[in-house]
Amino acid sequence: MEYCARCHSFAIPAITPDLTRSPVLGSVEAFNGIVLQGVLASAGMAKFNDLLSEGDVLAIQGYLTDEAWKAYETERLDGHSARQ
Ligand code: HEC
Repeated sequence: MEYCARCHSFAIPAITPDLTRSPVLGSVEAFNGIVLQGVLASAGMAKFNDLLSEGDVLAIQGYLTDEAWKAYETERLDGHSARQ
């Protein structure tokens, strides 16, 4: 996760999107497009096709989806939601 954490924090408000709350997580194609092909390059999101394979990116997406579910469960068990 060291590549992504340089610019993205997880579950901490920051300038860059919290990846565990990204709608893009739901789509392998959209995620790959951003991370490997640089769809958001003009917005400042680097592309990683020289550093990461498609398998790596799938693993990252899986990790983030896991974290997203954990955060969701925690909020639900707390009896309130930090989501808008
Ligand atoms: C050089 C800084 C930087 C690094 C390193 C970086 N990102 Fe980003 N990323 C950004 C910025 C800036 C945006 C916001 C672009 C925008 O505003 O549309 C972004 C947006 C995204 C989005 C879209 C989120 C959304 O909801 O729109 C995804 C997915 C993403 N990054 C994944 C990754 C992954 C996975 C990694 C590690 C492989 C990574 N990023 C590493 C800067 C970075």
